[in-house]
Amino acid sequence: MSPPPLKLPRVVGHRGAATYAPENTLASLREARRRGATWVEFDVKLSGDGVAMLMHDDSLKRTAGLDRLASATPWSQIQSLDAGAWMAPRFVGQRVPSFVEAIACLGEEGLGANVEIKPCPGREAETARATVETLRKHWPARLPTPLLSSFQDAALAAALEAAPEYPRAILIDELKDDWRARAEAVGAVGVNTNGKKLAPVMAAEIKAAGYLLSVYTINDPDKARALVAMGVDCVITDSPDVILAASSG
Ligand code: G3P
Ligand code: MG
Repeated sequence: MSPPPLKLPRVVGHRGAATYAPENTLASLREARRRGATWVEFDVKLSGDGVAMLMHDDSLKRTAGLDRLASATPWSQIQSLDAGAWMAPRFVGQRVPSFVEAIACLGEEGLGANVEIKPCPGREAETARATVETLRKHWPARLPTPLLSSFQDAALAAALEAAPEYPRAILIDELKDDWRARAEAVGAVGVNTNGKKLAPVMAAEIKAAGYLLSVYTINDPDKARALVAMGVDCVITDSPDVILAASSG
């Protein structure tokens, strides 16, 4: 089964709305909606015992205060950590959400999602399978089909094999000539890349080939406008309100 056609919004909130609330928490997802985003991007990783949750780093230290690898820590312990205190006192009590909890929040808020599969090393296929199994069980039918992305082609290949119905985007910091072969190998419909490193000629090549083109993480309105002028479809930003105002002005 090939993925259905996908329409991405111009602006997607990065890790929720990471400028304003602790990244990858429910508060951040809700803040993105409050600031006008209709979609969010977030990172899905596995706990030591295989629970899919929202977490960017391999280590829990920066955002949850525990100097330990997520892959070596059971979900019961991760759940007890504070994921908001590091940012500001008013966020004390925010938790690391499970992917299931995050999906429920998206349903309440009416948010679409770019789900970045962010495996710890060696867990690419396992993380991809857990992600798509969770989507199949919990994704609300009334929300737009989510877009999967990953820096790890092996994760996208596993997602393709397990659940081809979810559209995929390759995620590459700096695009090289092999981008198209990589996209074709995982049946991608999109290319997500670092907007600060994207050359106009590469943007034109990707659009001419018929791919959706998304860029991260663009918080500067002038840069966002320039990228859209280059043909970029979707800007992933920590400050969705600022970039929305720039793209409508
Ligand atoms: O998915 C876009 C962007 O989030 C990729 O980089 O490190 O912020 O997950 P990172
Ligand atoms: Mg990400």
